[in-house]
Amino acid sequence: MKSPDIVRTQKDLRGQIWEWRGLGETIAFVPTMGALHSGHLSLVKLAKGKALKVVVSIFVNPTQFAPGEDFESYPRTEEADIEKLSSVGCDLVYIPRKGSMYNAHHATHIKVGGVAENLETDHRPTFFEGVALVVTKLLNRVAPDIAIFGEKDYQQLATIRRLVADLDMPIDIIGAPIARDDHGLALSSRNQYFDKDGLSKARQLNEIMFECARTMRNGADISDATQRAQSELLAAGYSSIDYISVACPDSLEIMTSGTVNKPMRLLVAAHCEGVRLIDNCQV
Ligand code: PAF
Repeated sequence: MKSPDIVRTQKDLRGQIWEWRGLGETIAFVPTMGALHSGHLSLVKLAKGKALKVVVSIFVNPTQFAPGEDFESYPRTEEADIEKLSSVGCDLVYIPRKGSMYNAHHATHIKVGGVAENLETDHRPTFFEGVALVVTKLLNRVAPDIAIFGEKDYQQLATIRRLVADLDMPIDIIGAPIARDDHGLALSSRNQYFDKDGLSKARQLNEIMFECARTMRNGADISDATQRAQSELLAAGYSSIDYISVACPDSLEIMTSGTVNKPMRLLVAAHCEGVRLIDNCQV
């Protein structure tokens, strides 16, 4: 397949977008932080089926990392990323130059309420502000018809849907199913931090999560089922669990007890061998 063109400035990006717009092309956008794996490539394939042109951005966004998180060590694999994107028919890769996203006078912040509260925000209080800011900037720069986000970051997807609706951005936000390895582990750029032992511990997360969802579907009380899952994760070698919660799939309102009598979402964040893993599934 043809290699995608690469642009690094807003001027070059805009030039290409205007050219396509002039020709009546539709544009799908997949924002990423690079370190691409087959989960990202599945988003690009989905995008290819929905628009004539696909733009992928690669930008490790500093504002969504808290001090002490892995911003500096986050894997940066630009050359390999571009090669992978060539294999799935991406048309344009936007790699903003270092320093070109936030200038020294930057003073605008975006805080999404509702779905962006609780869960991740209880543990990473500034994460969604960072995501909302960079996604708004990227959507303004690329101006796509649709943008695709993975369901692995379920609360992020809900937050971006809210943001785009509230700010009247004329963009369809599409959620893509979670890509998993042969053992069910949700694909993540951070999985490469694991050694062999860590990987086999990590893989227990999805097993415990799916089993927890199954027992709740069969009538187990939410509090009992999630507490059992917590104990199982700790017994499997997880050092701590940030949350294992059942929430309404749209509002993300959390249900802490009782039985599930309509489709709900089970969301988990837990620490394994120094790596924070998140996952979710339907109940
Ligand atoms: O999900 C991610 O990779 C990032 O949060 C995103 C949406 C690219 C924003 O930096």
